[in-house]
Amino acid sequence: MDQTTLPRPEAETTTTAKPVILTGDRTTGPLHIGHYAGSLTNRLALQDSHRQFLLLADTQALTDNAHDIGKVRRNVLEVACDYLAVGIDPAKTTICLQSHLPALAELSMLYLNFVTVARLERNPTIKDEIRARGFGRDIPAGFLCYPAAQAADITAFKATVVPVGEDQAPLIEQCNEIARRVNATAGREVLPEAQALIPEAGRLPGIDGRAKMSKSGGNAITLSASEDEISQAVRAMFTDPDHLRVEDPGKVEGNVVFTYLDAFDAAKDEVAALKDHYRRGGLGDAVLKRRLEDILQALLAPIRARRAEVASDPAQVHRIIAEGTHVAREITEATKREVMDALGLFRL
Ligand code: TRP
Repeated sequence: MDQTTLPRPEAETTTTAKPVILTGDRTTGPLHIGHYAGSLTNRLALQDSHRQFLLLADTQALTDNAHDIGKVRRNVLEVACDYLAVGIDPAKTTICLQSHLPALAELSMLYLNFVTVARLERNPTIKDEIRARGFGRDIPAGFLCYPAAQAADITAFKATVVPVGEDQAPLIEQCNEIARRVNATAGREVLPEAQALIPEAGRLPGIDGRAKMSKSGGNAITLSASEDEISQAVRAMFTDPDHLRVEDPGKVEGNVVFTYLDAFDAAKDEVAALKDHYRRGGLGDAVLKRRLEDILQALLAPIRARRAEVASDPAQVHRIIAEGTHVAREITEATKREVMDALGLFRL
């Protein structure tokens, strides 16, 4: 055989190196169908083609939950169970715990010198949250600074793809700004820029029509919801308050049932026909709700079953997190050292 046709492993590893994904969730509550539509499906689809890391963001959760650390701790295993239940495969995706990756905290401290308070306050995500929570000047400093910490999360893994909901886009933008400043100071590209991967459908509203779905807001359908809970949630779902009689024309915009059908019903043509019918009048909410309930029951039944299986062996879930964190520690330590060197800090 000709020498040149022999496989060359070194060359192969560089050409086949997969792009890196880092994304994560605050461990403040169980994941819900908004997370599913928002980023879990992207993460599932990409775990073969990408080197994927999922961060259980417990330290970021502390930035607005320091009064309830028990909640943050308890939800570490819950969120990990949710990941495994939807089909995240620990053989392909590394699940790791933020508080046990010291390099993330160290990089955060370095990055805080490459961002101003004014810029942090201008971040639309932060601005919205400051308003929603009524923080004013009493904002916890950790909360104001979490965009720098999130930049540390992303860059420590040298991630180039970040699957998130659309509310997170300004954070990825700010991450890239910090990366550019670090690179400019270093005089070379130490940190790659990352791209947010945002689902087309946009953010799923709560069952009551409010923009943000959350377990604490009581308007979520969690991935572990029982058959009954799903049924009740769909029955209580916000539609068109002016659609009083079946024969009346109804509004599709802002009608949560249609928003969810758009997100979860694969038969797009049928949904389009249902929208026309609803607008014309003569289509009742009950018919639509039955259709949506069937779809959600079918989606969540296998997830619920798998979750029960996974949750029955917490020691195994614990092991998966510990092993993933071990792998992540080496990668994040290496990046931290590289950044320190590139910035020209003293070497010991
Ligand atoms: N901010 C994200 C959220 O609130 C969680 C998160 C922490 C994250 N670190 C991240 C997301 C890094 C993407 C990349 O859900």
